[in-house]
Amino acid sequence: MLEVSGLNSYYGESHILHGIDLTVPAGGRVALIGRNGAGKSTFLKSLMGAGPTARGEIRWDGRNLKAMAPYARARLGMAFVPEDRRILGNLTVFENLKIVRGHTSSGRMATPEEILDQFPLLKPLKERLGGVLSGGQQQLLALARAEISNPRLLLLDEPTEGLAPVIVENMVADVQRICRNGCSLLLCEQSLWFSRRCTDYVHVIDSGRLVFSGLWQELDAAEDVMKRYIGI
Ligand SMILES: Nc1ncnc2c1ncn2[C@@H]1O[C@H](COP(=O)(O)OP(=O)(O)OP(=O)(O)O)[C@@H](O)[C@H]1O
Ligand SMILES: [Mg+2]
Repeated sequence: MLEVSGLNSYYGESHILHGIDLTVPAGGRVALIGRNGAGKSTFLKSLMGAGPTARGEIRWDGRNLKAMAPYARARLGMAFVPEDRRILGNLTVFENLKIVRGHTSSGRMATPEEILDQFPLLKPLKERLGGVLSGGQQQLLALARAEISNPRLLLLDEPTEGLAPVIVENMVADVQRICRNGCSLLLCEQSLWFSRRCTDYVHVIDSGRLVFSGLWQELDAAEDVMKRYIGI
């Protein structure tokens, strides 16, 4: 279980996140939606200890993460797929998967071949260098790389950005499959369509503050929130 309370995050003097309280229960699937610049990526980076200065409580299974380096957080089973994907351009698709290390309780990890069987669009590109993949192909590889680590918490930063609609549809199944083994999900997105298919609970962020937290049906009923913060 991930428990964030009273999180304030800063880039230098800029105060970006203001008192965020957010929980992802064990096996739970939660979305954080908001417009450009709302603070979604800053929130995920704060969870990983990768960039912004964070004040407040971040706990994973009761452990305080604040003093832990990003790699140590990853070793606890937190798999972060950042906005820029961080695919290694001079390694092949296969090698990008081969080098993933498991976390302390990952058990037997799937082989790259087994993971590629789950990503039919990637499979034929096994020997292609990461650096020449299209944006969408890199996004699939980033998701495959998260899946192979057998994560306990999947942190996705706008995985559907720039993807063709048919690939977005397929990606719903990928995310659901990864979450099936009890992995929790925190999904940052702008696509409501994708988010509601992947999660049960939703937070809306605006200017670094949560302005709504509830079930999707509750968000549908909150017309003022939809209009004001999401533009629907
Ligand atoms: N490295 C940085 N230094 C200073 N300010 C930053 C930095 N990164 C982001 N910001 C600012 O923090 C705010 C939140 O940005 P963030 O990237 O978290 O938004 P986001 O919700 O992920 O937006 P998007 O949907 O466009 O990715 C923005 O005002 C942005 O300009
Ligand atoms: Mg972002």
